[in-house]
Amino acid sequence: MTSQTWNAASYQENAGFVPILGGPVLELLGEVAGQDVLDLGCGDGVLTERLQAAGARVMGVDASAEMVAAARKRGVPAEQMDGQDLRFDARFDAVFSNAALHWMRDQDAVLQGVFRALRPGGRLVCEMGGQGNVAAEVVALHQAAAEFGLDGAALHPWRFPSPQEQGDRLAAIGFTVQRMELIPRPTPLPTGMYGWLITFAGPYTRHLPVERQEPFLRRVEAMLAPALRDQQGNWTADYVRLRFVAERP
Ligand code: BEZ
Repeated sequence: MTSQTWNAASYQENAGFVPILGGPVLELLGEVAGQDVLDLGCGDGVLTERLQAAGARVMGVDASAEMVAAARKRGVPAEQMDGQDLRFDARFDAVFSNAALHWMRDQDAVLQGVFRALRPGGRLVCEMGGQGNVAAEVVALHQAAAEFGLDGAALHPWRFPSPQEQGDRLAAIGFTVQRMELIPRPTPLPTGMYGWLITFAGPYTRHLPVERQEPFLRRVEAMLAPALRDQQGNWTADYVRLRFVAERP
């Protein structure tokens, strides 16, 4: 299983904006009252809780035991499960996913599992990083990785598909794609780039000795400042979202 290590408190501090900005994709789900809804990559369950409050029978799954514990603490049913190995058969009316799929390397395995998990007529409503997402951060991370003796390309943990690529993948699995949009969404970072990197750059920093991790992240931050920090010192990340809706016929 691909497990991920997250610190729920640090996630809430540095990335609390992630579920807040997931509101519009939640609305795309439409009516959920009385429906069985899977939240794929539920994180700490902020949006799962909103689905539950809207009357859905929810189940959250996440690869991180820490996040599953945080979601359960919120009162939503959640299980630790790899999104690339979903173990459900025709169990849900809808699968919802916000800001999670890009962490899953094998997109075919994920979407095949979602297809199996849906009942006929069920829908997948998803937002994830799309083509060009955090491009500046990726370039800076890979440059710093080279300077610190790491192979950035080999460590690169994310998948940011284009609309064409993801649409073709969904169609090949048997989905009917109803909507597919690539949306540039510059995103203010409440705790700056350093806070963002602390939370999200673990796939790179964990390969460095502890005493080299902060210098590595400071180097990345310095490279990004001319592009992503304004004169007041506010940081904005170059997020690009891929938002789609697909139905299992
Ligand atoms: C994202 O939500 O697009 C994202 C977050 C962290 C790392 C990479 C992408």
